[in-house]
Amino acid sequence: MDVSNKSAVSEFVLLGLSNSWELQMFFFMVFSLFYVVTMVGNSLIVITVVVDSHLHSPMYFLLANLSVIDMSLASFATPKMITDYLTGHKTISFDGCITQIFFLHLFTGTEIILLMAMSFDRYIAICKPLRYASIISPQVCVALVVASWVVGVMHSMSQVIFALTLPFCGPNKVDSFFCDLPVVFQLACIDTNVLGLFMISTSGIIALSCFILLFNSYVIVLITIKQHSSRGSSKALSTCTAHFIVVFMFFGPCIFIYMWPLSNFLIDKILSVFYTIFTPVLNPIIYTLRNQDVKIAIKKLKNRFLNSNKATPQHYF
Ligand SMILES: *[C@@H]1O[C@H](CO)[C@@H](O)[C@H](O)[C@H]1NC(C)=O
Repeated sequence: MDVSNKSAVSEFVLLGLSNSWELQMFFFMVFSLFYVVTMVGNSLIVITVVVDSHLHSPMYFLLANLSVIDMSLASFATPKMITDYLTGHKTISFDGCITQIFFLHLFTGTEIILLMAMSFDRYIAICKPLRYASIISPQVCVALVVASWVVGVMHSMSQVIFALTLPFCGPNKVDSFFCDLPVVFQLACIDTNVLGLFMISTSGIIALSCFILLFNSYVIVLITIKQHSSRGSSKALSTCTAHFIVVFMFFGPCIFIYMWPLSNFLIDKILSVFYTIFTPVLNPIIYTLRNQDVKIAIKKLKNRFLNSNKATPQHYF
């Protein structure tokens, strides 16, 4: 294609997080562990929500959707990084790099809108409880999920189209463990590109605006809970603090990296670990440890599984 003709660079080298062998071994073990916990924990949430009819409500459907996105976010770059530690292979093709940018923005964009949908759901449930059933109908819930994917696709398309217009002619060392626009942009053979800086910081500004919106809605929700402290309010409080921890851990790094795209700090690398490796593992931990309904549902699921294991042999022998 003429895109690759224009670009002299056909592959990038991912420098990863560290050169030291000991640190690499450490990262290999920690990230592998996190990856396994992310996949197992989030699958467990999806299975529990789908199987248990007590959890068939918009809040848990949205949570299960978030788990699906978290698994995708954990999988677009981390497995490659983990296996690269073993093989010592560090390159990624030009197309692979663009694909990583696409998926990174697809999953983070979708996750941001989904987190907003979840806060909207909690806001209505707690501040307008009488109108909840009429506002958050199953159709609205599906519409929120579809909308978050549509926004995610549109956002990531815009980022990728921009990345494809950049000429790459020389340096190809990406100082990170996956391709992201702020880092790759610094390798392009152009003088300071106002449009580029604008494109990148727009992501940061959008993330910041969403975060302020989310922050306000959770503050209103928390104040409402405090005012009507009654039965069930501690449950609402723990749900909302859980949501808020996820929101904070996810948005903080995104906003920092994208608002100051040309800063090239070690801190950028550390922060990118946050939203690709730490946040995806957070959901299952927070929800399985703090949410009574999910805990009970998982226990029931376990009993059902154990009983069916015991029952099957009796049927056949
Ligand atoms: C995602 O949300 C939709 C809409 O409520 C729901 O129908 C679907 O089952 C959810 N997906 C998962 C994996 O739970």
